[in-house]
Amino acid sequence: MRSTLMLIVVAIAFLYVTDTVAAENKFVGTKTCAMCHKAKDKGEAFVIWQKSVHANAYKTLESEASKKIAKEKGLSKPPAESPECLKCHVTGGGVAKNVEKAFDMKEGVTCEACHGAGSGYKTLHAKAENKAKAVAAGMIADDAAEKTCVTCHNQESPTFKGFKYAEFWAKIEHKLPKK
Ligand code: HEC
Ligand code: HEC
Ligand code: HEC
Ligand code: HEC
Repeated sequence: MRSTLMLIVVAIAFLYVTDTVAAENKFVGTKTCAMCHKAKDKGEAFVIWQKSVHANAYKTLESEASKKIAKEKGLSKPPAESPECLKCHVTGGGVAKNVEKAFDMKEGVTCEACHGAGSGYKTLHAKAENKAKAVAAGMIADDAAEKTCVTCHNQESPTFKGFKYAEFWAKIEHKLPKK
């Protein structure tokens, strides 16, 4: 009985700690990631991202097409100021308060939209042996990163025409060079 109670206490404490870790992490912006992920021999994830549609996702909200959609939806503010659109077109959904100075939502859908807010893991994860710790500190990688796609690529998008992972990933593919 006593040990069961102890287990419950430990479980609750664990949930509290992991929750707080995620909540305390700050979005750092793409410049921090670029420092180590820009060079060609490092896989140039930053360069690939910069050329991708995701880097333009905020800008899209300033287009005539966006204004038309917002009007049809009866939004009271321009799309680039509406939470209904920012939700998926910028990292943090336009409401994130947990941000460092260098973070700018106008960068659109950034690394951290898929890999998690970086403050906790940005230094830690650079050594392969720290992977588990980096994940515990908020890094989203591997299959977990794949799963983030459908948090935005879904029916709630006013222009949704379907989502096929393999096909879409091919358009934004980036990876570390083979060791
Ligand atoms: C100090 C340099 C440095 C910075 C800053 C940095 N990274 Fe990395 N990152 C690395 C290195 C080195 C690796 C390869 C580690 C390894 O060999 O497993 C890596 C690997 C990764 C991986 C793959 C992890 C895995 O095991 O699958 C992801 C995802 C990643 N970084 C995302 C980011 C993001 C997002 C940012 C910005 C918030 C960032 N990195 C900032 C150096 C850095
Ligand atoms: C649930 C997430 C989500 C929401 C909410 C959302 N979008 Fe998008 N938007 C996307 C995704 C994902 C795409 C990429 C194409 C697709 O699947 O719709 C996209 C694409 C677009 C495009 C380009 C379409 C094209 O065919 O090139 C426009 C314009 C756009 N969105 C405007 C808006 C406006 C305006 C709002 C707010 C009224 C909004 N979006 C709300 C996720 C969203
Ligand atoms: C739209 C979501 C998305 C964005 C934006 C994004 N990534 Fe990724 N990233 C992924 C996915 C998914 C993978 C592949 C995970 C897997 O299956 O190994 C990946 C893989 C990686 C890897 C390679 C891991 C390996 O083992 O080869 C690195 C490094 C990385 N991302 C860094 C970045 C950086 C830095 C940025 C921003 C400049 C960025 N990513 C932007 C989704 C994203
Ligand atoms: C934070 C929300 C978000 C996440 C997470 C996200 N996307 Fe997107 N994605 C968008 C938005 C918004 C657009 C439309 C950008 C625009 O047109 O300006 C888009 C557009 C795209 C496009 C271009 C689609 C087209 O019709 O040309 C591809 C490809 C894509 N995303 C792949 C992915 C993949 C693969 C993942 C997961 C690894 C992913 N995205 C995760 C929001 C997201």
